[in-house]
Amino acid sequence: MTIPLASHFTLLVLLIASLHLCDAYNYKTYFYKQKVDHFGFANQDSFIQRYLINDEHWNRQGGPIFFYAGNEGDITLFAENTGFMWHIAPEFGAMVVFAEHRYYGVSLPYGNKSLSEPKYSGYLTSEQALADYVDLLMYLRSVIRGAEKSPVIVFGGSYGGMLAAWFRIKYPHIVQGAIAASAPILQFTNLTPCEKFGQLVTSDFAKESSECAQVIRESWAAINSVTADEEGRAWLSSTWKLCRPLKSQDDVKTLKDYLSNVWTNLAMVDYPYPANFLAPLPANPVKVVCTHLTAPGRTPKLLLEELFTGLTVYFNFTGTTKCMNVDEQADARLDDKGWDFQACTEMVMPMCYDGTHDFFEPAAWDFLEYADKCRKKWGVQPRPFMAPLMYGGRDISAASNIVFSNGLLDPWSTGGVMWNVSDSVVTVIIPEGAHHLDLRAPDPADPPSVILAREFEKSFIRSWIQSYKPGKGDHEE
Ligand SMILES: *[C@@H]1O[C@H](CO)[C@@H](O)[C@H](O)[C@H]1NC(C)=O
Ligand SMILES: *[C@@H]1O[C@H](CO)[C@@H](O)[C@H](O)[C@H]1NC(C)=O
Ligand SMILES: *[C@@H]1O[C@H](CO)[C@@H](O)[C@H](O)[C@H]1NC(C)=O
Repeated sequence: MTIPLASHFTLLVLLIASLHLCDAYNYKTYFYKQKVDHFGFANQDSFIQRYLINDEHWNRQGGPIFFYAGNEGDITLFAENTGFMWHIAPEFGAMVVFAEHRYYGVSLPYGNKSLSEPKYSGYLTSEQALADYVDLLMYLRSVIRGAEKSPVIVFGGSYGGMLAAWFRIKYPHIVQGAIAASAPILQFTNLTPCEKFGQLVTSDFAKESSECAQVIRESWAAINSVTADEEGRAWLSSTWKLCRPLKSQDDVKTLKDYLSNVWTNLAMVDYPYPANFLAPLPANPVKVVCTHLTAPGRTPKLLLEELFTGLTVYFNFTGTTKCMNVDEQADARLDDKGWDFQACTEMVMPMCYDGTHDFFEPAAWDFLEYADKCRKKWGVQPRPFMAPLMYGGRDISAASNIVFSNGLLDPWSTGGVMWNVSDSVVTVIIPEGAHHLDLRAPDPADPPSVILAREFEKSFIRSWIQSYKPGKGDHEE
């Protein structure tokens, strides 16, 4: 459905595409012409960035803008999974804006060539993405009557939470405060030990039962022994109903990577009610998976048959999946290609596993090997210290107006800010929370700790808005 151009958007906006109605999430889709390179003058290219707006509750006399700093995926996915912003917009009289991150969704600077070679892919950085958000906000404040002096509160979860925190750190004159949910801004070299993440994933399962964790721990050796020959690979392909039969050891590696991701994803989205973030899942999915994984110590084939019954919870909760697709790890709207590039450039997050204190296949962190893969795959050399250098690493004491939230079920909390940095850079811990549970819409099954966390966040948002004194148009272009 197309809607007519609103008059205040006629200046620079290129297109208004559609009115979207998805449950409670009702937004208009717009596009803004962005610079490909914000930091130099050689590349004059531009591209079209998508963003979503809902202003039905907005106080048109300067009410706040709630701005979601889009992360690594199609922005509609985040709009549908950030119910907290939608839920509190009416009481704050806030306009809700979701901005798509460059190189994701439809916001591709060089179309389908965007990730093809460094000449095109090289503009995929968090710095450029934040500069996009700055330009977009300046633009919105300049063209929407009543928004000229609106305070802006930036929200984000996961990498989006990192962007939210960094947005406030870098541009405190543009955004008045940040809610950074499950934002692992310390998941970088020498800031967080590499083994912490896998250990927390494991403890989420071991909390349900030690047998459950043990079945997963034993599964790697079982897979290795069963898939050592062609007959075993055929057996596993058919028993596990794989979409693509295992032909080689490379395929086996892909399968094991898929499994590692499944266990990690389950820990991340261990929400207390059925949800569809990375995949459609039941309430408390780790518990449900663990009801199937009860008998470690059996022969490899029996163990793998049992493991499969646990896996079906992840990939076939809907009961409509024809086969297990190990090439697709999560909701296709989360783009692992773009993230893989970012992980090979700026977002180098060391992870390692020992198979004893965690249940993963042992794998040391080897930066040289990692960098080698990145050069081969993307033609780029990773810069592991870039993000901490750009944004401060652990030393963010000069920042202000940030609430970090971390759930203790969330493996990413191991790279999160878990302490109060100052009076205005504070952390709220959600003991029963998985990955950015607080950003999701309220639900009757929410634990009290997340209800309190949302109140805590709201009180900070309110104080940031109240103490905001708009400048006199001092940063107009
Ligand atoms: C990219 O898009 C162009 C034009 O739509 C098409 O001709 C080309 O095959 C596409 N290339 C790839 C790699 O998909
Ligand atoms: C998914 O579940 C349905 C219903 O239980 C079942 O018929 C189907 O075989 C399952 N798919 C796979 C790949 O296991
Ligand atoms: C940070 O301070 C707030 C009070 O402003 C307190 O409620 C909260 O528990 C503290 N967080 C941590 C991690 O100590």
